[in-house]
This record gives sequence, structure tokens and C-alpha cells, in this order.
Amino acid sequence: MDPRDKPGDDGRRVMSRRTSIAPVTNAPLALTSLPMAEAFNELALPSAKAARYAAVAEEIAAVLEGEPNLTARMATVASMLAASFDDYFWTGFYLVDPDKPPNGPQELVVGPYQGSLGCLRIAFGRGVCGTAAATRKTQVVEDVHAFPDHIACDSRSMSEIVVPVLDRAGRLIAVFDVDSERPAAFDGLDAEGLERILKQVFG
Ligand code: SME
Repeated sequence: MDPRDKPGDDGRRVMSRRTSIAPVTNAPLALTSLPMAEAFNELALPSAKAARYAAVAEEIAAVLEGEPNLTARMATVASMLAASFDDYFWTGFYLVDPDKPPNGPQELVVGPYQGSLGCLRIAFGRGVCGTAAATRKTQVVEDVHAFPDHIACDSRSMSEIVVPVLDRAGRLIAVFDVDSERPAAFDGLDAEGLERILKQVFG
């Protein structure tokens, strides 16, 4: 175990805060057989993007084992992913508002996140998040300024990915939104990695 990690009350690991993260590359899945106890040491997280998502997925599963609360699960996913990728500038959930009548217009309301102040509400169909919610399809946006109707919560955001979050019954419960200060920061590997983690945690 990393000496900076301390066990929680129930014996589960509590992550320490890291100051730097090794850069992600699109290199092939080599050098991934690192001991999981070291996975949240910045020197040990695999640098290949797909392998890094796989390593973080295992860590998230270990931390969330036995925890049913949705807020706790969302907050943990947002925190652990934001801590694992340099490109994650704003990271969090917009939940389908359960208080909206099902036969009227649907709205997303902000949930657990890491980053600067996020917009509170987004109508289905509006912006990248609303488009992901309305279509139930992952949106990878290389240039947010070229996306019609993009909602700029923070002008530093340049690119983003939004992934629909479904529960076990296949109902849309939220979208997971990641913004980057770097243009074209996200690609199919991010989509695959995130879709897998969100299915594992909420499906
Ligand atoms: N970029 C989003 C809005 C949410 S924030 O970026 C936190 C969108 O257009 O849906």
C-alpha cells in the first residue's frame, strides 16, 4: 500500500491527494501489470489511456464495494476519475430531475462534481449534456465552440465528453460530463473507458 494511503474506519483505503499525474498516452497496453495497491500512486498509474481506465475501474469497484448510496457512488466516481486524468478539468454528473412530471419537458440538475461552479439545470436537448440525455448517446466534442447550443459554464472549457448513465433496468438516471481545457482532449478510448465504468457502477 502507498504509505500516503490510510485505512478508513471500516478498513477501506482512503486515497491521499496527489500533486501530479503521469501523462496519458495512446500507447499500446504495455506496462500495465502493476500491483493494484500502487494504482493511485502517480508513478504507477499506467500511461496508456485504455489501461489507465481499466486500472481506475478496478480501484473504483474496490472502493464502492458494499456501498449502495447513489450520491456516494457518484461522488466517488467523479473524484477518482478527476484525480486520475490531467485532462479532466470539470468532472461530474447531471441527474435526470425526478421532480419533473414524466409527461412534461425533462430537465437535468447538477449532481456530485469536481471543478469550478457548474450550471445548475440543463433542459433535455440543450447543450452537450442535454443532447446526450435526449439521444442516450455518448457525445465526444472536440471543439465546444463549434457545437451548436453549447452551454458555457466555464469559458476555459475547450472540449468535452458526455456519457449517458443508465440504471440496471435501462432507465436514464444521469449523464456524466467531463470538460477539458485542451481542444480535442477526448476520443473513442475515453468513450469506451467511461461507458464501461458507468455501466459497472450504475448498471
Ligand atoms: N458543457 C455542458 C454544460 C455543463 S458544464 O460544462 C459543467 C453542456 O453544454 O452541456
